[in-house]
Amino acid sequence: MKNNNKVLLSYYNQRLVRLEKKSSYYKLYGGKNQAKQLARLEKQITRLEEKINQLTQVRKQVIDKRILELESLIKTTELESTKKELLSELDSLKARESLLTDQKHMLSLSHLTMKFGGLKAVDDLSFVVNRGEIFGLIGPNGAGKTTVFNCITQFYKPTFGAVYYTNRHGEVVNLTDYKVHNIIDLGIARTFQNVELVWELSVMDNLLVGAHSLFTSGFFTQLFHLPKMKKEETLLRNKALEIIESLGLTPFKDMIPYGLPYGVLKKIELARVLMTNPSLIILDEPAAGLNDSETKELAHTIKEIKNKYNLTIILVEHDMELVMDICDRICAMSFGQRLAIGTPQEIQSNKDVQVAYLGGE
Ligand SMILES: Nc1ncnc2c1ncn2[C@@H]1O[C@H](COP(=O)(O)OP(=O)(O)OP(=O)(O)O)[C@@H](O)[C@H]1O
Ligand SMILES: [Mg+2]
Repeated sequence: MKNNNKVLLSYYNQRLVRLEKKSSYYKLYGGKNQAKQLARLEKQITRLEEKINQLTQVRKQVIDKRILELESLIKTTELESTKKELLSELDSLKARESLLTDQKHMLSLSHLTMKFGGLKAVDDLSFVVNRGEIFGLIGPNGAGKTTVFNCITQFYKPTFGAVYYTNRHGEVVNLTDYKVHNIIDLGIARTFQNVELVWELSVMDNLLVGAHSLFTSGFFTQLFHLPKMKKEETLLRNKALEIIESLGLTPFKDMIPYGLPYGVLKKIELARVLMTNPSLIILDEPAAGLNDSETKELAHTIKEIKNKYNLTIILVEHDMELVMDICDRICAMSFGQRLAIGTPQEIQSNKDVQVAYLGGE
Protein backbone atom coordinates (compact mmCIF):
# COMPACT_ATOMS: atom_id res chain seq x y z
CA MET A 1 0.00 0.00 0.00
CA LYS A 2 2.72 2.39 1.04
CA ASN A 3 4.81 1.75 -2.07
CA ASN A 4 1.81 1.77 -4.40
CA ASN A 5 1.00 5.21 -3.16
CA LYS A 6 4.52 6.36 -3.77
CA VAL A 7 4.53 5.05 -7.35
CA LEU A 8 1.09 6.50 -8.04
CA LEU A 9 2.11 9.86 -6.62
CA SER A 10 5.20 9.96 -8.77
CA TYR A 11 3.13 9.00 -11.84
CA TYR A 12 0.52 11.68 -11.15
CA ASN A 13 3.24 14.17 -10.60
CA GLN A 14 4.91 13.45 -13.91
CA ARG A 15 1.53 13.67 -15.62
CA LEU A 16 0.99 17.02 -13.99
CA VAL A 17 4.28 18.31 -15.40
CA ARG A 18 3.17 17.21 -18.89
CA LEU A 19 -0.25 18.86 -18.56
CA GLU A 20 1.40 21.99 -17.30
CA LYS A 21 3.72 22.09 -20.29
CA LYS A 22 0.75 21.67 -22.61
CA SER A 23 -1.15 24.39 -20.83
CA SER A 24 1.73 26.87 -20.98
CA TYR A 25 2.03 26.01 -24.67
CA TYR A 26 -1.63 26.81 -25.33
CA LYS A 27 -1.29 30.02 -23.38
CA LEU A 28 1.54 31.01 -25.69
CA TYR A 29 0.11 29.51 -28.85
CA GLY A 30 -3.26 31.25 -28.89
CA GLY A 31 -4.79 29.00 -31.58
CA LYS A 32 -8.48 29.20 -32.40
CA ASN A 33 -9.42 26.61 -29.80
CA GLN A 34 -7.24 28.19 -27.16
CA ALA A 35 -9.93 29.01 -24.60
CA LYS A 36 -11.58 25.61 -24.93
CA GLN A 37 -8.31 23.70 -24.70
CA LEU A 38 -7.14 25.75 -21.75
CA ALA A 39 -10.38 25.18 -19.85
CA ARG A 40 -10.14 21.44 -20.52
CA LEU A 41 -6.54 21.32 -19.33
CA GLU A 42 -7.34 23.45 -16.31
CA LYS A 43 -10.03 20.93 -15.33
CA GLN A 44 -7.64 18.00 -15.76
CA ILE A 45 -5.00 19.78 -13.71
CA THR A 46 -7.44 20.53 -10.89
CA ARG A 47 -8.62 16.89 -10.81
CA LEU A 48 -5.05 15.67 -10.71
CA GLU A 49 -4.16 18.13 -7.97
CA GLU A 50 -7.06 16.83 -5.89
CA LYS A 51 -5.89 13.23 -6.33
CA ILE A 52 -2.34 14.21 -5.43
CA ASN A 53 -3.61 16.04 -2.39
CA GLN A 54 -5.55 13.01 -1.15
CA LEU A 55 -2.61 10.67 -1.70
CA THR A 56 -0.28 13.12 -0.01
CA GLN A 57 -2.49 13.12 3.07
CA VAL A 58 -2.37 9.33 3.15
CA ARG A 59 1.40 9.37 2.74
CA LYS A 60 1.68 11.92 5.49
CA GLN A 61 -0.22 9.59 7.81
CA VAL A 62 2.10 6.73 6.85
CA ILE A 63 5.12 8.94 7.55
CA ASP A 64 3.70 10.14 10.90
CA LYS A 65 3.09 6.53 11.95
CA ARG A 66 6.63 5.52 10.95
CA ILE A 67 8.06 8.49 12.86
CA LEU A 68 6.30 7.34 16.05
CA GLU A 69 7.44 3.78 15.41
CA LEU A 70 11.05 4.89 14.93
CA GLU A 71 10.99 7.07 18.02
CA SER A 72 9.95 4.19 20.23
CA LEU A 73 12.39 1.78 18.52
CA ILE A 74 15.25 4.20 19.12
CA LYS A 75 14.42 4.31 22.82
CA THR A 76 14.58 0.54 23.14
CA THR A 77 17.50 -0.22 20.81
CA GLU A 78 20.82 -0.76 22.47
CA LEU A 79 23.03 -1.57 19.51
CA GLU A 80 24.73 1.73 18.57
CA SER A 81 24.98 1.02 14.82
CA THR A 82 21.28 0.14 14.54
CA LYS A 83 20.39 3.19 16.58
CA LYS A 84 22.38 5.38 14.20
CA GLU A 85 20.57 3.94 11.17
CA LEU A 86 17.18 4.47 12.81
CA LEU A 87 18.07 8.02 13.77
CA SER A 88 19.11 8.83 10.24
CA GLU A 89 15.85 7.40 8.84
CA LEU A 90 13.96 9.43 11.41
CA ASP A 91 15.76 12.64 10.43
CA SER A 92 15.11 12.07 6.77
CA LEU A 93 11.39 11.46 7.39
CA LYS A 94 11.21 14.56 9.53
CA ALA A 95 12.82 16.62 6.74
CA ARG A 96 10.17 15.37 4.30
CA GLU A 97 7.45 15.94 6.86
CA SER A 98 8.58 19.53 7.43
CA LEU A 99 8.14 20.29 3.72
CA LEU A 100 4.72 18.64 3.70
CA THR A 101 3.51 20.64 6.70
CA ASP A 102 5.18 23.97 6.11
CA GLN A 103 4.48 25.56 2.75
CA LYS A 104 7.22 28.07 3.51
CA HIS A 105 9.90 25.42 3.08
CA MET A 106 10.94 24.77 -0.50
CA LEU A 107 14.07 22.64 -0.40
CA SER A 108 15.51 20.48 2.33
CA LEU A 109 18.88 18.75 2.28
CA SER A 110 18.94 15.84 4.68
CA HIS A 111 22.30 14.29 5.62
CA LEU A 112 23.62 14.93 2.13
CA THR A 113 26.95 13.18 1.61
CA MET A 114 29.11 12.98 -1.50
CA LYS A 115 32.28 10.94 -1.53
CA PHE A 116 34.96 10.91 -4.22
CA GLY A 117 37.06 7.89 -3.37
CA GLY A 118 38.33 8.58 0.13
CA LEU A 119 37.38 12.28 0.06
CA LYS A 120 34.10 13.43 1.56
CA ALA A 121 33.44 16.56 -0.54
CA VAL A 122 30.05 16.97 1.18
CA ASP A 123 29.78 15.49 4.65
CA ASP A 124 26.39 14.96 6.28
CA LEU A 125 25.03 18.36 5.30
CA SER A 126 21.47 19.38 6.21
CA PHE A 127 19.67 22.69 5.72
CA VAL A 128 16.31 24.08 4.61
CA VAL A 129 15.74 26.81 2.01
CA ASN A 130 12.58 28.89 2.32
CA ARG A 131 10.34 29.84 -0.57
CA GLY A 132 11.14 33.30 -1.93
CA GLU A 133 14.44 33.79 -0.14
CA ILE A 134 17.95 34.37 -1.42
CA PHE A 135 20.05 31.73 0.28
CA GLY A 136 23.84 31.99 0.21
CA LEU A 137 26.33 29.14 0.47
CA ILE A 138 29.81 30.29 1.45
CA GLY A 139 33.06 28.61 2.35
CA PRO A 140 36.75 28.47 1.39
CA ASN A 141 37.93 26.96 -1.92
CA GLY A 142 37.26 23.24 -1.98
CA ALA A 143 34.69 23.41 0.85
CA GLY A 144 32.22 21.48 -1.32
CA LYS A 145 29.86 24.24 -2.46
CA THR A 146 29.77 23.36 -6.15
CA THR A 147 29.43 19.70 -5.21
CA VAL A 148 26.30 20.57 -3.18
CA PHE A 149 24.85 22.23 -6.30
CA ASN A 150 25.76 19.22 -8.40
CA CYS A 151 24.00 16.96 -5.90
CA ILE A 152 20.85 19.11 -5.95
CA THR A 153 20.66 19.11 -9.74
CA GLN A 154 21.57 15.39 -9.86
CA PHE A 155 24.66 16.08 -11.94
CA TYR A 156 26.17 13.86 -9.24
CA LYS A 157 24.20 11.13 -7.50
CA PRO A 158 24.79 11.70 -3.77
CA THR A 159 26.47 8.85 -1.91
CA PHE A 160 23.98 9.25 0.91
CA GLY A 161 21.11 11.48 1.99
CA ALA A 162 18.07 13.08 0.43
CA VAL A 163 17.19 16.33 -1.30
CA TYR A 164 13.50 17.07 -0.77
CA TYR A 165 11.85 19.69 -2.94
CA THR A 166 8.31 21.06 -3.08
CA ASN A 167 7.21 21.36 -6.68
CA ARG A 168 4.78 23.96 -8.08
CA HIS A 169 1.80 21.93 -6.89
CA GLY A 170 2.92 21.55 -3.32
CA GLU A 171 4.02 17.95 -3.73
CA VAL A 172 7.21 16.91 -2.00
CA VAL A 173 9.64 14.93 -4.16
CA ASN A 174 13.09 13.53 -3.48
CA LEU A 175 15.32 14.93 -6.22
CA THR A 176 17.63 11.93 -5.99
CA ASP A 177 14.79 9.91 -7.61
CA TYR A 178 15.10 12.08 -10.74
CA LYS A 179 17.52 12.12 -13.65
CA VAL A 180 19.60 15.21 -14.32
CA HIS A 181 17.65 16.10 -17.51
CA ASN A 182 14.29 15.98 -15.69
CA ILE A 183 15.27 18.44 -12.99
CA ILE A 184 14.52 21.41 -15.24
CA ASP A 185 10.89 20.21 -15.62
CA LEU A 186 10.50 20.57 -11.86
CA GLY A 187 11.35 24.26 -12.17
CA ILE A 188 14.99 24.13 -11.08
CA ALA A 189 17.61 25.84 -13.24
CA ARG A 190 21.26 26.69 -12.69
CA THR A 191 24.22 28.63 -13.97
CA PHE A 192 27.78 27.32 -13.82
CA GLN A 193 30.94 28.56 -12.15
CA ASN A 194 32.41 29.35 -15.58
CA VAL A 195 30.31 31.16 -18.15
CA GLU A 196 28.78 28.51 -20.40
CA LEU A 197 27.24 30.03 -23.50
CA VAL A 198 27.12 28.96 -27.14
CA TRP A 199 29.69 31.37 -28.47
CA GLU A 200 28.76 31.06 -32.15
CA LEU A 201 25.09 31.94 -31.57
CA SER A 202 23.57 35.37 -31.04
CA VAL A 203 22.39 36.38 -27.57
CA MET A 204 18.81 35.87 -28.73
CA ASP A 205 19.56 32.38 -30.04
CA ASN A 206 21.33 31.49 -26.80
CA LEU A 207 18.06 32.26 -25.02
CA LEU A 208 16.04 30.20 -27.48
CA VAL A 209 18.38 27.27 -26.90
CA GLY A 210 17.75 27.72 -23.16
CA ALA A 211 14.03 27.34 -23.80
CA HIS A 212 14.30 23.92 -25.39
CA SER A 213 12.43 22.33 -22.50
CA LEU A 214 9.41 24.47 -23.35
CA PHE A 215 9.20 23.22 -26.91
CA THR A 216 6.30 20.86 -27.27
CA SER A 217 6.44 20.26 -31.04
CA GLY A 218 7.11 16.64 -31.78
CA PHE A 219 10.00 15.27 -33.75
CA PHE A 220 8.15 15.25 -37.09
CA THR A 221 6.89 18.79 -36.69
CA GLN A 222 10.44 19.91 -36.10
CA LEU A 223 11.76 17.78 -38.93
CA PHE A 224 9.44 19.34 -41.49
CA HIS A 225 9.48 22.73 -39.83
CA LEU A 226 5.72 22.87 -39.89
CA PRO A 227 3.78 26.10 -39.21
CA LYS A 228 3.10 25.05 -35.63
CA MET A 229 6.78 25.15 -34.89
CA LYS A 230 7.18 28.50 -36.58
CA LYS A 231 4.47 29.87 -34.33
CA GLU A 232 6.15 28.40 -31.25
CA GLU A 233 9.38 30.06 -32.19
CA THR A 234 7.72 33.44 -32.60
CA LEU A 235 6.12 33.13 -29.18
CA LEU A 236 9.35 32.08 -27.51
CA ARG A 237 11.10 34.92 -29.29
CA ASN A 238 8.61 37.34 -27.72
CA LYS A 239 9.22 35.85 -24.32
CA ALA A 240 12.98 36.16 -24.87
CA LEU A 241 12.56 39.79 -25.94
CA GLU A 242 10.71 40.56 -22.72
CA ILE A 243 13.45 38.95 -20.59
CA ILE A 244 16.21 40.62 -22.63
CA GLU A 245 14.57 43.98 -22.08
CA SER A 246 14.03 43.49 -18.36
CA LEU A 247 17.74 42.64 -17.93
CA GLY A 248 18.84 45.64 -20.01
CA LEU A 249 20.32 43.42 -22.73
CA THR A 250 18.45 44.89 -25.72
CA PRO A 251 21.55 46.52 -27.33
CA PHE A 252 23.30 43.12 -27.41
CA LYS A 253 20.47 40.88 -28.56
CA ASP A 254 21.76 40.25 -32.11
CA MET A 255 25.46 40.09 -31.21
CA ILE A 256 27.41 36.94 -30.51
CA PRO A 257 28.54 36.79 -26.86
CA TYR A 258 32.21 36.45 -27.78
CA GLY A 259 34.08 39.58 -26.69
CA LEU A 260 31.21 41.13 -24.73
CA PRO A 261 32.03 42.45 -21.23
CA TYR A 262 31.90 39.83 -18.47
CA GLY A 263 29.05 41.62 -16.69
CA VAL A 264 26.94 41.30 -19.83
CA LEU A 265 27.81 37.60 -20.22
CA LYS A 266 26.66 36.91 -16.66
CA LYS A 267 23.37 38.63 -17.43
CA ILE A 268 22.92 36.59 -20.61
CA GLU A 269 23.30 33.45 -18.50
CA LEU A 270 20.65 34.70 -16.09
CA ALA A 271 18.35 35.54 -19.00
CA ARG A 272 18.80 32.06 -20.43
CA VAL A 273 17.93 30.50 -17.11
CA LEU A 274 14.74 32.60 -16.93
CA MET A 275 13.60 31.19 -20.27
CA THR A 276 12.91 27.84 -18.59
CA ASN A 277 10.20 29.26 -16.26
CA PRO A 278 12.08 28.31 -13.08
CA SER A 279 10.84 28.48 -9.48
CA LEU A 280 14.28 27.86 -8.01
CA ILE A 281 17.51 29.10 -9.53
CA ILE A 282 20.96 28.08 -8.46
CA LEU A 283 23.84 30.45 -9.21
CA ASP A 284 27.46 29.33 -8.88
CA GLU A 285 29.65 32.39 -8.29
CA PRO A 286 27.62 34.87 -10.34
CA ALA A 287 29.99 37.75 -9.49
CA ALA A 288 33.26 35.94 -10.30
CA GLY A 289 35.35 38.08 -12.65
CA LEU A 290 33.16 41.17 -12.28
CA ASN A 291 34.45 44.59 -11.25
CA ASP A 292 32.89 46.55 -8.38
CA SER A 293 30.32 48.43 -10.38
CA GLU A 294 29.33 45.32 -12.37
CA THR A 295 28.93 43.43 -9.08
CA LYS A 296 26.66 46.15 -7.68
CA GLU A 297 24.59 46.07 -10.83
CA LEU A 298 24.36 42.27 -10.64
CA ALA A 299 23.15 42.47 -7.03
CA HIS A 300 20.42 44.82 -8.16
CA THR A 301 19.49 42.57 -11.11
CA ILE A 302 19.30 39.45 -8.92
CA LYS A 303 16.97 41.15 -6.46
CA GLU A 304 14.86 42.52 -9.29
CA ILE A 305 14.39 39.24 -11.15
CA LYS A 306 13.67 37.46 -7.87
CA ASN A 307 10.68 39.70 -7.31
CA LYS A 308 9.55 39.97 -10.90
CA TYR A 309 9.63 36.23 -11.60
CA ASN A 310 8.70 35.05 -8.12
CA LEU A 311 11.90 33.09 -7.58
CA THR A 312 13.79 31.36 -4.83
CA ILE A 313 17.54 31.71 -5.30
CA ILE A 314 20.49 29.75 -3.92
CA LEU A 315 23.90 31.16 -4.68
CA VAL A 316 27.53 30.38 -4.03
CA GLU A 317 29.70 33.46 -3.91
CA HIS A 318 33.12 34.53 -2.68
CA ASP A 319 32.30 38.25 -2.88
CA MET A 320 31.29 38.83 0.75
CA GLU A 321 29.89 42.28 0.12
CA LEU A 322 27.45 40.88 -2.44
CA VAL A 323 26.53 37.94 -0.21
CA MET A 324 25.90 40.10 2.85
CA ASP A 325 23.96 42.61 0.76
CA ILE A 326 21.49 40.32 -1.00
CA CYS A 327 21.16 37.10 1.02
CA ASP A 328 18.33 36.59 3.49
CA ARG A 329 20.15 33.65 5.08
CA ILE A 330 23.55 32.08 4.68
CA CYS A 331 25.05 28.64 5.29
CA ALA A 332 28.81 28.61 5.89
CA MET A 333 30.63 25.40 4.98
CA SER A 334 34.06 24.07 5.74
CA PHE A 335 35.47 20.70 4.61
CA GLY A 336 32.07 19.58 3.35
CA GLN A 337 30.37 20.23 6.69
CA ARG A 338 27.96 22.86 7.91
CA LEU A 339 29.73 25.38 10.09
CA ALA A 340 26.88 27.79 10.77
CA ILE A 341 23.58 28.95 9.37
CA GLY A 342 21.81 32.25 9.90
CA THR A 343 21.23 35.82 8.79
CA PRO A 344 24.18 37.79 7.32
CA GLN A 345 24.67 39.49 10.71
CA GLU A 346 24.68 36.17 12.57
CA ILE A 347 27.19 34.69 10.12
CA GLN A 348 29.46 37.73 10.29
CA SER A 349 29.62 37.58 14.07
CA ASN A 350 29.98 33.78 14.29
CA LYS A 351 33.37 32.86 15.78
CA ASP A 352 33.75 29.55 13.90
CA VAL A 353 33.06 31.28 10.59
CA GLN A 354 35.55 34.01 11.38
CA VAL A 355 38.26 31.47 12.09
CA ALA A 356 37.56 29.09 9.20
CA TYR A 357 36.58 31.49 6.52
CA LEU A 358 37.30 35.09 7.23
CA GLY A 359 40.72 34.22 8.70
CA GLY A 360 39.93 35.11 12.33
CA GLU A 361 40.25 38.53 13.96
N1 LIG B 1 34.36 15.05 -9.77
C1 LIG B 1 35.21 15.08 -8.74
N2 LIG B 1 36.08 14.08 -8.50
C2 LIG B 1 36.94 14.11 -7.46
N3 LIG B 1 36.99 15.10 -6.56
C3 LIG B 1 36.14 16.13 -6.73
C4 LIG B 1 35.21 16.19 -7.81
N4 LIG B 1 34.49 17.33 -7.72
C5 LIG B 1 34.96 17.95 -6.62
N5 LIG B 1 35.95 17.24 -6.03
C6 LIG B 1 36.67 17.61 -4.80
O1 LIG B 1 35.71 17.90 -3.81
C7 LIG B 1 36.11 18.99 -3.01
C8 LIG B 1 35.05 20.05 -3.06
O2 LIG B 1 35.04 20.64 -4.34
P1 LIG B 1 34.01 21.76 -4.80
O3 LIG B 1 34.29 22.06 -6.22
O4 LIG B 1 32.64 21.35 -4.45
O5 LIG B 1 34.46 22.98 -3.88
P2 LIG B 1 33.95 24.49 -3.87
O6 LIG B 1 33.53 24.82 -2.50
O7 LIG B 1 32.98 24.71 -4.96
O8 LIG B 1 35.32 25.28 -4.18
P3 LIG B 1 35.56 26.63 -5.02
O9 LIG B 1 35.21 27.76 -4.11
O10 LIG B 1 37.02 26.60 -5.31
O11 LIG B 1 34.72 26.58 -6.25
C9 LIG B 1 37.46 19.43 -3.56
O12 LIG B 1 38.45 18.85 -2.76
C10 LIG B 1 37.49 18.88 -4.96
O13 LIG B 1 38.79 18.62 -5.37
MG1 LIG C 1 32.95 25.86 -6.68
